[in-house]
Amino acid sequence: MSSGFWGPIKPIGGGQHDHHRRLKPTLSWPHLIALGVGAIVGTGIYTLTGVGADRAGPAVVLAFAIAGAVCACAALAYAELATLIPTAGSAYTYSYSVMGETIGWVVGWSLILEYSLACSTVAVGWSGYLVGWIQSVGIELPPMLLAGPHGGGIINLPAVLVALAIAGMLIAGTRESATLNIVLVIIKLTALSFFVILALPSFSAGNFEPFMPYGFGSHEIGGTTRGVMAAAAIVFFAFYGFDAVATSAEEARNPGRDLTIGIIGSMAVCTLIYMAVAVSAVGSLHFTELAGSSEPLALVLRTLGHPFAAWAIAAAALIALPSVILVMMYGQSRIFFVMARDGLLPRSLSDVSPRTGTPVKITAITGVFVAAVAGFFRLDEIAELANAGTLIAFIAVAACMMILRRRAPDLARVFRCPQPYLVGTLAILGCIYLLISLPSTTLVRFVGWNIVGLLIYFAYGRSRSLLARTGKPAAEGSEPELIPPHQ
Ligand code: ALA
Repeated sequence: MSSGFWGPIKPIGGGQHDHHRRLKPTLSWPHLIALGVGAIVGTGIYTLTGVGADRAGPAVVLAFAIAGAVCACAALAYAELATLIPTAGSAYTYSYSVMGETIGWVVGWSLILEYSLACSTVAVGWSGYLVGWIQSVGIELPPMLLAGPHGGGIINLPAVLVALAIAGMLIAGTRESATLNIVLVIIKLTALSFFVILALPSFSAGNFEPFMPYGFGSHEIGGTTRGVMAAAAIVFFAFYGFDAVATSAEEARNPGRDLTIGIIGSMAVCTLIYMAVAVSAVGSLHFTELAGSSEPLALVLRTLGHPFAAWAIAAAALIALPSVILVMMYGQSRIFFVMARDGLLPRSLSDVSPRTGTPVKITAITGVFVAAVAGFFRLDEIAELANAGTLIAFIAVAACMMILRRRAPDLARVFRCPQPYLVGTLAILGCIYLLISLPSTTLVRFVGWNIVGLLIYFAYGRSRSLLARTGKPAAEGSEPELIPPHQ
């Protein structure tokens, strides 16, 4: 075991290759694009388009392009590391192996925030479409149970219920099959295509004037952070989830080619679709009418006189968004699982039920946390905090990719990021710019989360770290493996 200023360093690949447990390489690039698009398209485009329009005006279109470009750079770095260190734990494990345990912990703790709050965000987005959908057929629901205290209610009950239901499904061992994923991808993309086809003919150039009513940089106006970068910092949410592709490295038939096409392809597909949806939405309805809607795409279609299409797009969101929660909640339990297996969190948390093969405790804790946040907090606030966690993970991944190129240039890389130093630097600078464009309250909360995390690490994990105590990393085959979400 080597050790650095930031604590012990996990050997790359050490204890991680149990050949009996390797996954079969069955996926080719079309599967990987479907996997990526399935995990990526969700509340970000279905709901945050309205929040983004509120922050940037019509320039929300530009915000999507900026966030997509930053994510594409980070995705390339992810792909290189995912094939070099093909193991559970993604950014947490890469950072642990390259920069040491303390940094690994901070990244892992940020990933816990990312995945759990992303689940809460999607649950709240799902609830918005459910409520609009039910009300559009004339049924009134008790408003107190449809929003947390911030919205004048008591609790957002539909969001709580969907989060708990998904946690229950994961505990019972539910996995989304690759076929179901493809069906859901088709539903989501068909709905968004129809949205564009129906909304675009009502495009009015007047709605694009002024294009940047709040300017480019993020700044506070009337208590809200606005500007193109403020919108980019929130719609960034719409792009992540591609790590689902990166973490399938082991299952790719021809990783060098398939991963590149899979990651770049799914980012390109999503960026194009998002920009088309955003242009259609803010081009057909003035951005001030979209702002604040909890189901902006359905609102656009209803306002343009397409009530059935509005009903159908809401139905598509209702059917497809829970799968994003499933994949994210699975990702969360996997990070927790790996951190517990490394001894940094109580190992009993990583107990896997012999009956269902699932980490019941971790999933239940995650489900309750996700549901509680979804029940009481505002969608944009949750999404922004999830984004802060993700941005830290992306920065760490890009840094690890560049450090390893210097430190271990001869390691056999299945996938090589093109122009690694340029792409890595752009990813880091882009992520830092997005991070500082987030509202200051989000940044304060994020720092608070990490202070709590570091206190736990120094009080608990540091002395119990398996690597620090035994000099050896936890072997992946030494404990029951979790089953990947897509098989
Ligand atoms: N990118 C995912 C979404 O927008 C998290 O829902």
